[in-house]
Amino acid sequence: GASRGDDFTVVGHRGASGYRPEHTLAAYELAARMGADYIEPDLVTTKDGVLVARHEPEIGGTTDVAEHPEFAGRKTTKDLDGVAVTGWFTEDFTLAELRTLRATERIPDVRQRNTLYDGRYPVPTFQEVIDLSKRLSRELGRPIGIYPETKHPTFFQRQGLALEPKVVEALNRNGLNRPGAKVFVQSFEVSNLRWLSSRLRVPLVQLTSASGAPYDFVANGDPRTYADLVTASGLRWVAGYADGLGPEKNQVIPRDAAGFLGEPTALVRDAHRAGLTVHPYTFRAENQFLPADFRSSVVPAEYGDLFAEIAAFR
Ligand code: G3P
Ligand code: CA
Repeated sequence: GASRGDDFTVVGHRGASGYRPEHTLAAYELAARMGADYIEPDLVTTKDGVLVARHEPEIGGTTDVAEHPEFAGRKTTKDLDGVAVTGWFTEDFTLAELRTLRATERIPDVRQRNTLYDGRYPVPTFQEVIDLSKRLSRELGRPIGIYPETKHPTFFQRQGLALEPKVVEALNRNGLNRPGAKVFVQSFEVSNLRWLSSRLRVPLVQLTSASGAPYDFVANGDPRTYADLVTASGLRWVAGYADGLGPEKNQVIPRDAAGFLGEPTALVRDAHRAGLTVHPYTFRAENQFLPADFRSSVVPAEYGDLFAEIAAFR
């Protein structure tokens, strides 16, 4: 099997999520100090158009907003990609208002998560995440990259708060819109990546799920699903605007109903043949794909060749 050496790029997914609430500067900083090469902010926007890091626009579960009586009247129900969601939404808060809230862990019941640090940290802006990556690069003496994800771009576009121009502006402003900048931009939707592909000079990654379809396809009546995007011809089409593919782990190593892992699919080979790098999510101990001591250990022997193939592709 492949050893976990310098060939692997480690992405601190939402920060060191097992130790600090997701998407806080504390979580990102700890991830980098634990060895991550990249930190991964999910991006949404405030009412006044400032990109902030949250896993989704609704913040009832990731902040203490419910404990703020002054915001009780902001609770509402919205159509989020065809699903009725009730709660508080970032686009209804100015940055100043959002900054009065404190982050809480999104999924405290998941093994290896905790609420010990709830209520301590504000919601970070994208600019603060960029500033953090620059400071940590200097302090740690190795580049700490950023791997931002545009969350629900169609949803925000419909409200006149499109995320993608703000991402371009932020990368430009920080001198990060250039090859070699240690930046990837990822999305589950397609059209925002296609729009970005002619404006950004950093690699773009098309995320896919084991089920469902990109929401912009659904909204535009395009019948293609994620399964269509990961066929050999679908992957060639994706390679027309993206540099990489971010498949859900089950699309790479399927599991049966009992949770047993099966033979790797042809996806990695097909993606590489289309010229796409592969950044599968999310292989970590809490998802039982890797041993708990992964950082000092090896990839499970039976999947070593697959991981080596992913890591070796340039
Ligand atoms: O890297 C892929 C991953 O970030 C997408 O899923 O839910 O963690 O944002 P999620
Ligand atoms: Ca993400």
